[in-house]
Amino acid sequence: MKSVRDVDVTSKAVFVRVDYNVPVDEKLNITDDNRILATLDLIYYLLERNAKIILASHMGRPNGKRDPKFSLAQVAKRVSRILEIPVLFADDCIGKTVSKMVSQLDNGQILMLENLRFYNEEKENNEAFAKKLASLCDVYVNNAFAVSHRDQASVTGMPKFAPESVAGFLLEKEVQSYYDSVENPKRPLVAVIGGAKVSGKLAALENMLKFVDKLIIGGAMANTFLKSQGFDTKGSMVEEDLLQTAVGIVKKAKEKGVDFLLPIDLICADKFDKDARVKEVLVDQIPDQWMALDIGPKTALRYAKAIQNAETIVWNGPMGVFEMEKFISGTRVVADAIADSSAFSIVGGGDTGLAAKKCNVADKVSYVSTGGGAFLHLMEGKKLPGVVALE
Ligand code: 3PG
Ligand code: MG
Repeated sequence: MKSVRDVDVTSKAVFVRVDYNVPVDEKLNITDDNRILATLDLIYYLLERNAKIILASHMGRPNGKRDPKFSLAQVAKRVSRILEIPVLFADDCIGKTVSKMVSQLDNGQILMLENLRFYNEEKENNEAFAKKLASLCDVYVNNAFAVSHRDQASVTGMPKFAPESVAGFLLEKEVQSYYDSVENPKRPLVAVIGGAKVSGKLAALENMLKFVDKLIIGGAMANTFLKSQGFDTKGSMVEEDLLQTAVGIVKKAKEKGVDFLLPIDLICADKFDKDARVKEVLVDQIPDQWMALDIGPKTALRYAKAIQNAETIVWNGPMGVFEMEKFISGTRVVADAIADSSAFSIVGGGDTGLAAKKCNVADKVSYVSTGGGAFLHLMEGKKLPGVVALE
C-alpha cells in the first residue's frame, strides 16, 4: 500500500475520501466528532504542502436520494470551525459546478463535497461514477478506514482511474494497530467479545481463536453459549440455530489451549425495559421467563482479573445492554479493567466505542477505532477491499 508520504502533493488536487459519517441529533447537531478529529493530521499535512484539498464522504444511508437529513453541509461547517479556516462546500459531488469549483481552488484551500451516497452509483460501485469522481483529482487518498470494508465507488472504484492512489494516515494507523495487536501481539493477548449475536461475530470468534490466549465472552451472545453448555437460559435472547456452532467454538478453544471465559452469574430482568425489576443470579438460577441483560458482579470481577495481566487487549462488543443504566455495570467493570491495565488496548468502534465513551475510558485505552464494521471485518481475518484497491 503506497502512502500519501510517498507522493508529491504540492499544488495538486488531492481527493481525500474520509468517513465523516458522524452521529447527529434531531436538530442535525453533530454529537460526536471523533471521526473528524481523527483526520486532522492528514489535513494539516496537506495544507502545509499547499495541496488543493477535496474532502468527500458518505453520511448515513440515503439510498441514492438527496435528503437534507444526510447533508454534509453541517459537517463542512464543523471542519471549518475546528481548523479555523474556511471550508468551501459544493452541494453535489460530481457535475459541472463541482468541476468548476475544483478548478478554481487555490493552493491550501479546502472544498468539501456533498454526500456521495446521494447517488446510488456510489453503493453500486458504478465505474462511470468512479471515473467522474477520479477526474476531479491528481491524487486520490483513502483516509476512510471505517468504510474500507465496502466495495463502493469512492473506496474501491476510484483507485482504478485516479492518476495516483494512496493511503492516508488514519487508514495506515488503523490497519497497523490492528495487525500489531492481534497478529503480532505482546502476550498474553486477551480478546473481550460481547454484543447481541453470535451470528454477527461468528467469523470473528473463529478467527480470533487462532491468535488469542484468552477469550472473554459477554453480552447476549453469552446466552447462546450458556444454553449450548446445558444451562436453562429461560426468557433470554438465544440463537437456537447456533447452539451446535457454539459447542464447536468452545471445543475448538479447548483444543487450541485458549482460555474461554463464560459468565458464571448474570443480571436478569423481568422485561426488556429500563424500569424492569432486576436480580443477580448464578447462571443456573434464572427465574422463569426472566432474561439475562448483563453479566453479573462475580463474572465481572473474574473478567477484570483475567484482563489484569494482559499485555494486549482487543475489545469488541459490550457486556450487557449498556444503553440502560441498570445493565451497564458489567461493561463498566470490564472497561475500567481494560483502562487500568498497562496492556496495549484497542477498542473496536461502533457500539463498543460508544460504550467506552459512556464508561469514560475512551481516553484511557490505547486506541479506539473509528470503524465498526471495518474493524469487525479485520477481526474476521479478511482484507479490507479499500486496502486491496491500493495494493
Ligand atoms: C459506518 O459507520 O459503519 C461506516 O461509516 C460505514 O457505513 P455503512 O455501514 O452505512 O456502510
Ligand atoms: Mg456500518
